[in-house]
Amino acid sequence: MAFLFNSDAERGAVFRSAFVRELPDLPFAIDSATIDPDQVRYVISWTVPHGLECYRNLELLFSVGAGVDQFPLTSIPSEVKVVRMVEDGIIRMMQEYVTLAVLALHRNLPTYLDLQRQRQWRPLLQKQATDQRVGLLGLGVLGRAVLESLKPFGFPLSGWSRSAKTIEGVATYCGQAGLSQMLSEIDILVCLLPLTGDTRGILDRGVFARLPKGAALIHAGRGAQLDHLALLAALDDGHLAGAVIDVTEPEPLPSDHAFWTHPKVLLTPHVASATQAETAARAVIDNIKRYEAGLDLIGLIDRTRGY
Ligand code: NDP
Ligand code: OXD
Repeated sequence: MAFLFNSDAERGAVFRSAFVRELPDLPFAIDSATIDPDQVRYVISWTVPHGLECYRNLELLFSVGAGVDQFPLTSIPSEVKVVRMVEDGIIRMMQEYVTLAVLALHRNLPTYLDLQRQRQWRPLLQKQATDQRVGLLGLGVLGRAVLESLKPFGFPLSGWSRSAKTIEGVATYCGQAGLSQMLSEIDILVCLLPLTGDTRGILDRGVFARLPKGAALIHAGRGAQLDHLALLAALDDGHLAGAVIDVTEPEPLPSDHAFWTHPKVLLTPHVASATQAETAARAVIDNIKRYEAGLDLIGLIDRTRGY
């Protein structure tokens, strides 16, 4: 039985020392050439590793990231369990990013940056946080953690998910009717959805039209969820006031894309959050221990839902 680490060497070194300490009887390999493929029971990777079919005894395939859309699930043998990354470091970073983005939009930062470039000293009317309604698409591990970070500021909070949820201090919605209702009642929309057949292209003209005039978007889910032209049209006709975009399709964004220079867009290169080696190694080790003890895996993907 062995664990194969198929990702960057820097994180690999951190994983190796944690595995040697916590699971000393489980051989740990970074180079697949150094290990008998039949020994490999566990693999961690960002994409499906080359030659996956060689690992005939593979039981768990861990994603380095929280998303698993980069794994074509149909190409992974059905008996292999796919597990996404659920770890404290990635959660904390996403809390920071979305809080930063909500505050930037709330305090008109894109407009002030634009005014600064024009050498204009012009104070704008400032809303109170209690009048700035924030709605999340996605109430999973990251969405719920982000809501907790936003609570102390006093923003009225709401969220939308596939299944119905109850979250203290948050108005929750599900289904298409619920989505329409939430969109009509918020000023800042945050997307933290996984990419699936149902969420591809979800941030479209129809969604933007249902937001009140002057609303803004924060997109930190996956690039393929956003219709770029629809967003640009909504920003340019004044319906939307701003957008903070972390994920695009394609990545990197081509150098002539309008997002780079648009005065209402703050753009970051898919850095909202990232797996942190120390906390991720601990999470994977705990999950292997849970699995070997017959307990439920944390972050197990439901292949029928696709996340
Ligand atoms: P989870 O699986 O914990 O949560 C997903 C949430 O989305 C759930 O609330 C789920 O609903 C909801 N959802 C899924 N499909 C639909 C749908 N069709 N309609 C409505 N709601 C839906 O994922 P995480 O919170 O851990 O991560 C979310 C995503 O964030 C990742 O998949 C990844 O794409 C992105 N991400 C981006 C990063 C970045 O740096 N930009 C970093 C890390 C992650 P329900 O609760 O009912 O199941
Ligand atoms: C992830 C990411 O899914 O970094 O973890 O996007």
